[in-house]
This record gives sequence, structure tokens and C-alpha cells, in this order.
Amino acid sequence: MNASLLAALKHRLPDLKLSTEPGDREHFGRDWTRRWTPEPLAIAWPGSVEEVRALVRWAAESGVAIVPSGGRTGLSGGAVAAAGELVVSFDRMKQVIAFNPVDRTLTVQPGITLQAVQDAAREHGLIYPVDFAARGSCQIGGNIATNAGGIRVIRYGNTRQWVAGLKVVTGTGELLDLNRALVKNASGYDLRHLMIGSEGTLGLIVEATLLLTDPPPDSNVMVFAVPAMDALMQVFATCRAQLTVSAFEFFTDRALHHVTRHGAQRPFESDSPFYVITEFDAGSQAQQDAALAVFERCLENGWVTDGVISQSEAQARALWRLREGITESLAPHRPYKNDISVRISAVPAFLHDMQELLAREYPHFDCVWFGHIGDGNLHINVLRPEGMPDAQFISECERVTKLLCEVLEKHGGSISAEHGIGLVKKPYLDTVRSAADIALMRGIRGVLDPAGVFNPGKLFDSTPPA
Ligand code: MLT
Ligand code: ZN
Repeated sequence: MNASLLAALKHRLPDLKLSTEPGDREHFGRDWTRRWTPEPLAIAWPGSVEEVRALVRWAAESGVAIVPSGGRTGLSGGAVAAAGELVVSFDRMKQVIAFNPVDRTLTVQPGITLQAVQDAAREHGLIYPVDFAARGSCQIGGNIATNAGGIRVIRYGNTRQWVAGLKVVTGTGELLDLNRALVKNASGYDLRHLMIGSEGTLGLIVEATLLLTDPPPDSNVMVFAVPAMDALMQVFATCRAQLTVSAFEFFTDRALHHVTRHGAQRPFESDSPFYVITEFDAGSQAQQDAALAVFERCLENGWVTDGVISQSEAQARALWRLREGITESLAPHRPYKNDISVRISAVPAFLHDMQELLAREYPHFDCVWFGHIGDGNLHINVLRPEGMPDAQFISECERVTKLLCEVLEKHGGSISAEHGIGLVKKPYLDTVRSAADIALMRGIRGVLDPAGVFNPGKLFDSTPPA
């Protein structure tokens, strides 16, 4: 069956680069989640928009599912191919197509890495401000498909804010040219925004026009030791009131433990249950003085007990490593990941309820808290206790996730802030989205992808549960 399907594909698209090599199937059949065994039919690397269109038409006619593949750094299983799907990788479509200095836009192919986009923007004296630790591997198509967030959302917003135009191939192979980088466009539904965050279920992004902006002034980074959970938001409010903040992140002593074992340097000797890292504009003496004043005010109020301000770019990078290295340092433990959010104003009460829930339900588990607390977004990674079988660990975490959803509901939050729903959070979608929402999403999916080619089984199933 597989052989005849592939023979038919080769016959239809003789120039398409394809592989069924075990190494490729293993590599391209998964993202950073490790729960599923990759079982793709094959990997295809189209080289042009027309090849993508032809491939999609063939898949729709042949009943073959497609899993779009970017850098596969996702954490929700959105790029997993474990059921005989054809993985469509954009590794061969990674060029910068155009820079427009008047519009201040960069038009790129989907397979370009975030890092390469940032570098290209800098070559023109501008920045593409969306940023996160996976920048060197993740691809812009995947960033857009998941509406990626990261460490500078507090200042610049999510990926959505930076997409001026998109070209997308729908499930019928049609090519949509969405918004054409217009600043103002009141001509009906903005389908561009429907595509952003659709997790590869509505279309394949084949070109993106990204907005760029001016670089910020020179910045500094501070890390504070925070003695109590209640003080985190006091520190945040003080920083935000006195400084121009471009990042405000937190992590716990457990996160510090793992990341320093993984090569990061302790910021200072004293221990603390919580730490925050903030980046702020420090181009003038007044801004630098303001940072010192913030530190002193927080010390006087007992909201922080220690701190350090970067004195060089190298030191700023070393401090960032404390936060950015956490995911990598936890990866060997194959953690169960939570990526939850509430409104910023709800953070203090939410933190309390979460602390209570986790202490009660996970008394013997290493729960590592960190994340974008300035956006109301927490990553709570639960580490597998030594020797606990996979199935038992997952079922235990799923039991607690159901309880967590109740806490989220109480605080009006979301089960996924920035990682997406994919496969991992699919069972909980209906706790944060109404039945009417999901029915509408299902309908939209059916219109854009009538044959159900794109990422079946991800986000939600195409037919409602009986
Ligand atoms: C991060 O912000 O570092 C990742 O999104 C979080 C994670 O690995 O859970
Ligand atoms: Zn994150």
C-alpha cells in the first residue's frame, strides 16, 4: 500500500525530493515531545510554491494526510507524524525573498529560521522582535502556525502582531494571498489571522511578509532573588512603572538547580525560592539610575534579597542563559509540560491556587516552575520520578491536568498560552473553549481543508466525539 502510494506520488511529481530512510522518518516524524513513536509514510521536501500546491492536490485525491514540518521545536506534538502521514518539510524553502525599506517588511519563505530572520532584519538596521530560545532551529512558518510568543511579548506582542501578509495553500491546493502587507485593509474577513495559530490545520504557509521595527536603545539585564511568591508581582509592578521593560521572566530554585547543572553560572551565591530576570532600556544615565533605584526600592521593601545588573553584553548573555537554558536542561527528564496563562491581574491569586494544587497532587514530583510571568504565562514542568514507567507518569500528569483545568476555569485562563494544543493538550481543549467555539472551528477547518488532509487528529478531531 505504502509502496504503491509513493510510486504514484513519484509518478505525479517526478522532481519532488522524497525520503523513506529510517533516519529521516525518525528525525522528521517528531517534534520536541517524546511521547509518540514516529511512523510517517515518507518525508517530502518541496522546493517551490507550485510543488507544494501539486503535493497537496495529490494528497487530497489520494487520502494521504500531511503533517507540516518546520524546525520541530514544538512542545505539544503538533508536528508529530505517528500514523503514516506524509511529512512536508520546508527545509528547502528558506530564502529571504525581499526587503522593502519603505514598508519596513521582510518577505521570506517558511523554512527560514527565526535567527536568520532576525539577522536579515539587523542587516538593514531594523529588528524582528519576536524572540525565544529555539531561535536557531525553529522556522518562521512554524512560528506563525503556532502564533509563537517568547521572551519579549511583554513589549512587542506575539508573532501575530508582526505578520503583514501571508501566502497559504489550502487543502484544495488553492493559493491564498492574504492581506498583501497592507497597513489598512477593511475588505472583509482577515483570513491571515485565521491562519496564524491554526497549528497546520487550515493550510500550508508558503510565504510570509513580516513587519520590522527600530532596534531598542542599549539594554541591561537584572536578576533578582525573590524570597516569596507574593513579592513577584510587586517586583514586576515596580520594574514596569520605573523602567522600559522588554522582558520580565521568572524561575524557581528547582529551575536554577537544573540549569546550573547544565552549564549556566549562578548569578550570586545566596539562595532564594524565586528569581526574576528582566531586560530594560539602559541607553542613558537616567535609565541606568532608574534601574538602581528599582533594585533599592525592592530591597527596602523586602521584595528582593539579592540582585545583579549586567555590566557587559557577555554578562547579559550569561544571565539570560539562566532562563533560556532551562528547557534544554530539563529535556533529559522528558518532563510533562504545562503552558498555562491567566490575565496579569489574576496572576497572584492563580499562583496561590496552583501552589496548593501541585503541593497536594504532586507531593513526590519535582515540579519546575518558570516562564513569562510578565505575560501571565507559566511553564510548569513536571519531571518523571526515577524508575516510574512512562504510562503511569503520563496518566498521573493527565489526572492532575484535569484538576488544573478547574483552577484555570476559576481564573479565566488558558491551557495553552504559546505552545499550542497539538496532541498533548487536545483532551483539555473543551475546558477552555466552548462547544460553540469548537463547532465553529470544526466548520472552518472543513471549508479550508474539505478532504481533511492537514494535521488530522491535532488540535481537535474532525468529527465530534459521539
Ligand atoms: C520556554 O519559554 O522556555 C518554553 O516555552 C517553555 C518550556 O520548555 O516549557
Ligand atoms: Zn515559553
